[in-house]
Amino acid sequence: MLEPLPICYLNGAYLPLSEARISPLDRGFLFADSVYEVLPVYGGRMFRFCEHFDRLARSLNEIRLASPHTHEQWLGLLEERIRRNGGGDMYVYVQVTRGADRGRNHAFPAPPAAPTVFAMAAPLPATSSELRTQGLSAITVQDFRWTRCDIKATALLANILMKQQAADAGADEAIIIREGEVLEGASSSVFAVIGATVVTRANDHNVLPGTTRDVALELAAGLVEVHIRPITVEELRSAREVWITSATRSVAPVTRIDGAPVGDGRPGPVWTSINQRFEALRARLADTPSWSRK
Ligand code: PDD
Repeated sequence: MLEPLPICYLNGAYLPLSEARISPLDRGFLFADSVYEVLPVYGGRMFRFCEHFDRLARSLNEIRLASPHTHEQWLGLLEERIRRNGGGDMYVYVQVTRGADRGRNHAFPAPPAAPTVFAMAAPLPATSSELRTQGLSAITVQDFRWTRCDIKATALLANILMKQQAADAGADEAIIIREGEVLEGASSSVFAVIGATVVTRANDHNVLPGTTRDVALELAAGLVEVHIRPITVEELRSAREVWITSATRSVAPVTRIDGAPVGDGRPGPVWTSINQRFEALRARLADTPSWSRK
């Protein structure tokens, strides 16, 4: 496990993570009444900052919680936290809860409580040579989550049970199926190479709109035909390639599903091209401020 970096941010203060304290009455703790973001930092610069904070603003709006900060304030606050942790490559985790009420009341606190704002960082999982040659393994699981998976809520119990089921099977990810359709991974978006096309499903209430999914779609444009349409579980099993995308794992090839090989069981040529483009984009970031869109 990759341990978080030592300095975190909690409600206006930068402090050692080991000293950070919240109330047990915090609604994030009692009810998972909170939303979050995870974004990668490459060479000390946040990747797709605006897209992640647009999504956070949307999640907050959907749970009727006022945004505690503007994008500019988030930028300043997080850049300072990244600097205090020494810059470089990492990922940033940001969580906003509806704060601590005077007791355990289900309805919103009245008057509203001050939101709890927490941010920490951790090293990115290394893109190992093993990943490049062997790829990841996944299992398929039936969906039993709520119907607002488009909100990046910290209420992740279903996803956690799915991830543990994957871990118990020695797999890296659980691919979620509902009524024969592939929705997404327990913490990733899913792509399949079917025939000569790259396919991923549309965003709706059943999936989180992935920021890395959008990057992969941009990188695929001009390289290969892309179709946004549902993927059946049969198509997943017979796909030439399957990838998962997420802020922490960028675009990763899945080479085994439920113990059976995907395609020839090795990362495929379309993934290799997309991954090269992703690495080139990462390298170009050195000259890009965190703020810029795209
Ligand atoms: N998870 N779908 C789900 C359910 C996710 O949890 C994630 C990301 C994604 C991919 O979104 P993005 O490309 O914006 O990271 C899709 C993060 C990494 C997490 O919970 O750690």
